Amino acid sequence: MSQEGTRILNFPKSNKGSNISSDTTAASLSSLFFHLAQEPLQVKSLRKEIDEYFEEVSQVDSTGLSKLTYLNAIINEALRLHPPVPSGTQRVTPAEGLTIGDTFIPGNTTVQVPLHSVFRGKIPTLYRSSLILSAV
Ligand code: HEM
Repeated sequence: MSQEGTRILNFPKSNKGSNISSDTTAASLSSLFFHLAQEPLQVKSLRKEIDEYFEEVSQVDSTGLSKLTYLNAIINEALRLHPPVPSGTQRVTPAEGLTIGDTFIPGNTTVQVPLHSVFRGKIPTLYRSSLILSAV
């Protein structure tokens, strides 16, 4: 197959051989399109924002894309409801310990922030269409 006109994404592999970035990206895109498929109004607004972007640029670049308010609101909402690493990742506190807010955590302690729970804790567990529409 000709590669002319196509863009190739390079996804790094971890030293254990798994695709560290393609799994997270695939999961994110799946949840993003799952929600968009139920929100035709948002698809329309999103398409408008992206069309306007491409009227001004000939080449996609991450800085320009990061300024697309509507696109980013939709991505963030999908990531909030379906974080591809729901457990969060682990960190070890420094030897002298660490104070977060009012809580002291002793040194050399493994800590972890469970993203799925945090993202659904005190905020709605449903897709927030109105919040996204207000981003336009
Ligand atoms: C929505 C898409 C993505 C999500 C949700 C995601 C999420 C994550 C998370 C949670 C980590 C672990 C961070 C930590 O150390 O605590 C990570 C690490 C990493 N990600 Fe992503 N990622 C995404 C896409 C990508 C892409 C597209 C690339 C590269 C093309 C990438 C490259 C990496 C690399 C190099 C690491 C560090 C791995 C290591 O420490 O060995 N990620 N990512």
